[in-house]
Amino acid sequence: MKISVTLTKNPKPRPDENSLGFGKYYTDHMFIMDYDKENGWHDARIVPYAPIVLDPAAMCIHYAQEAFEGMKAYRHADGSISLFRPMENCRRLNSSNDRLCIPLINEDDMLQAVRELVRVDADWVPRKPETSLYIRPFVFATEPHVGVHPSATYQFVIILSPVGAYYAEGLAPVKIYVEDKYTRASKGGTGATKAAANYAQSLKAQMDAQAKGYSQVLWLDSVEQKYVEEVGAMNIFFKINGEVITPALTGSVLPGITRKSTVELLKYWGVPVSERRLSIDEIRDAAHNGKLEEVFGTGTAAVVSPVGVLGYKDEKYVINNFQIGELTQKIYDELTGIQWGTRPDPFGWVMPL
Ligand SMILES: Cc1ncc(COP(=O)(O)O)c(C=O)c1O
Repeated sequence: MKISVTLTKNPKPRPDENSLGFGKYYTDHMFIMDYDKENGWHDARIVPYAPIVLDPAAMCIHYAQEAFEGMKAYRHADGSISLFRPMENCRRLNSSNDRLCIPLINEDDMLQAVRELVRVDADWVPRKPETSLYIRPFVFATEPHVGVHPSATYQFVIILSPVGAYYAEGLAPVKIYVEDKYTRASKGGTGATKAAANYAQSLKAQMDAQAKGYSQVLWLDSVEQKYVEEVGAMNIFFKINGEVITPALTGSVLPGITRKSTVELLKYWGVPVSERRLSIDEIRDAAHNGKLEEVFGTGTAAVVSPVGVLGYKDEKYVINNFQIGELTQKIYDELTGIQWGTRPDPFGWVMPL
């Protein structure tokens, strides 16, 4: 794919790497590509970061025909930059596109666009430990039309954001509320995609949980509200009596790339791990019997996030005395070590830029 490059004449001041936060700053450039029926995906370009002009009738605004991805570029100690399993994100974006009737994008072209954009803004990849460059590819419907049908035109855009550790306080246990009123994804719905609409409809539960002193919610299945699915922006793992369990990908759970890597890592280490249905009753029993050993979430943003408390109805289960579990810490150290190049990568997950 030919990508034209127009460099900015007004580079922005660089943010202080000690206070990057998450998703606060955006780099100097962005990638854009257009779609229409006559030309398919065309006019790939890297241009100065700027607002996007949209017709007020653009269908993404009215009918949420939008999908996105989240991945990171990591600076290694020798100054080089790498990506982590980027083709997995390209494949997942296309699977979201397919579900949302958005035209598929050639996956090699997506990867090329990510790599070329990161190369143009390479100096924005931060150097401080635990910082990275968050990459946000997204695709949205642009046809000006009021009426529900798949849009005839789209844009594919990639923006970049230098980020610090997801939790400012570092790796520390979080409190999660098991949501028993709202649900995230229904059978046959869009739960397995990164559709923007999934996140809009999850906000109410998150706000209610925060008002109760929890940081995020753990979703239960939408049919019986009995089986655990995932957390707001993370997949979830439970270590019960020596076995690590994560909910199976039954169509309503996002197939996380950190989840996949964690399962592969555990198998490599010989730790018993299963992907299966797991009911909240089994978790409650394990908590009451002292068998609920560790709970942690996995996702690109936080990598691994220990869970210290699970709140369910009027009960609270404190996990591992609100301390980071041994296995949780080991997975965090291994994944981040591979990502930042301080540990060997026996799986071939790291792709140099
Ligand atoms: C709903 C949801 N589940 C799980 C994840 C974790 O996926 P990944 O490990 O690919 O970042 C994310 C983040 O992308 C998410 O938004």
